[in-house]
Amino acid sequence: MAEFLLEARGLTKRFPGVIANDNVTMSLKAGEILGLLGENGAGKSTLVKMLFGIHQPDEGKILLRGEEITADGPGEAIGRGIGMVHQHFQLVPTLTVAENIILGAETTQAGFLNRSKAEERVAELSHRYGLIVEPGDIVGELPVGIQQRVEILKALYRGAELLILDEPTAVLTPQETDELLTILRGLAADGVGIIFITHKLREVLEVTDRVTVLRRGKTVGTMVTSEATTESLAELMVGRAVVLRVDKAENEPGEVVLTVDELKVRDDRKQLSVDGATFEVRAGEIVGIAGVEGNGQRELVEAITGIRSIASGQAVIAGVRVSAKPRSVRQLGVAYIPEDRERDGLVGTYSIADNMVLASYNQEPYAKRGLRRFEAIAENATKLVERFDVRTPDIDTSVKSLSGGNKQKVIVARELSEEKKLVIASQPTRGVDVGSIEFIHNQLIAARDRGAAVLVVSAELDEIFSLSDRIAVIYEGKIAAVLDPDSTTREEIGLLMAGEKI
Ligand SMILES: Nc1ncnc2c1ncn2[C@@H]1O[C@H](COP(=O)(O)OP(=O)(O)O)[C@@H](O)[C@H]1O
Ligand SMILES: [Mg+2]
Repeated sequence: MAEFLLEARGLTKRFPGVIANDNVTMSLKAGEILGLLGENGAGKSTLVKMLFGIHQPDEGKILLRGEEITADGPGEAIGRGIGMVHQHFQLVPTLTVAENIILGAETTQAGFLNRSKAEERVAELSHRYGLIVEPGDIVGELPVGIQQRVEILKALYRGAELLILDEPTAVLTPQETDELLTILRGLAADGVGIIFITHKLREVLEVTDRVTVLRRGKTVGTMVTSEATTESLAELMVGRAVVLRVDKAENEPGEVVLTVDELKVRDDRKQLSVDGATFEVRAGEIVGIAGVEGNGQRELVEAITGIRSIASGQAVIAGVRVSAKPRSVRQLGVAYIPEDRERDGLVGTYSIADNMVLASYNQEPYAKRGLRRFEAIAENATKLVERFDVRTPDIDTSVKSLSGGNKQKVIVARELSEEKKLVIASQPTRGVDVGSIEFIHNQLIAARDRGAAVLVVSAELDEIFSLSDRIAVIYEGKIAAVLDPDSTTREEIGLLMAGEKI
């Protein structure tokens, strides 16, 4: 018997312009849960896609039970007992749970489908691992957490002895996450080897036996989890020591700056994704909007910033009713840190200096009588790069060559360098390294302390708790409750996020 169920030795994978995996080494034993930890872009998905046969490595070897295998497609990988639950599920929404699980695996039953036998096996697997599903339910009507169980069952049904889960908790509520972790423990106890990808340190510490950390495509270390701490893992992940706590003083909220009143907003498919949301944000406070992604957060923010039109109800900023004109919303004194910084916040091919004046390039002091004043633009950029700690060779560097954290700092610098009445920050630290998270959090708190009303939308509950003076939970486009973080638990927020009452 080989010591390892799976081994990757010196895997390298190049894409045009990037080395996504550079001499990566990892191993997994049967019955073990291995955490694969790393920031966005570290190369985690690329690694497991090679293990699952989606990508062909340029160099290196993959050994399964001690024998070298070639990556020749997911079909082969499944045949060898490797299962993968992707970041985006690959289920057929119109089919039932049982049909999805059996789909594509029928021919193993001597050419014809023995439906009742197949359903029996689904029930047996579901029972054995606590993966509770209703075989007759239509998949498209199920909550995400249950759909994920169906994906896991699908892999087990195909005989997976090695299960790869790529950021499975990103789409789950805290309760669903806990349930998933329990299920994974049960699977491991039964001998299944599990590769669990996440960027959340808490989850790694809670469920894994060992953890391999990737940074910029390289394996920077493997630790036995019981010997790891939040700090040691964060340091491995980022490459330097980081402080993970934010300190903030008690706030003194002032007058109401933002009022959202019975707001209804349609999404791109014309559905009412914001469906009667009501809340307010006062000067000098941070209100955090907690919720599972896809509950109307994006459309809510787009409506308040004037990017998307309002179907009914209203948003009022400093006494002025918002209309679908982003420029006039800005002129009310609104700073906006968008969810998708590459698309909505920056022009990648422009320099840092130009990105720092994106909304004011044609105004004094950056332009006079239609002429750009390069000295003023450069001076502004030099000052902000220093003050907001943007790590770059110089201010003429194009923004696209910066890391995620530094791109975000460019936006934060531009948006928070001037005093604003209202700051709207959507997923402000997504894909940002741990060190920059701390910095960005402190900047948001500083804006609050200067008297700005701050609205933070985040799918990260830790972020919501560390920043918010009040927490509003959004569920199916409505604010389910507004709570005081000091007297609320993660579990309570989690229940509200799942649409339950507390
Ligand atoms: N199919 C692809 N084509 C080109 N570049 C890719 C592709 N997949 C990933 N990359 C790049 O490889 C690097 C690692 O990405 P990925 O493995 O997805 O990281 P992670 O899963 O850790 O966030 C990133 O710079 C990413 O942009
Ligand atoms: Mg990934």
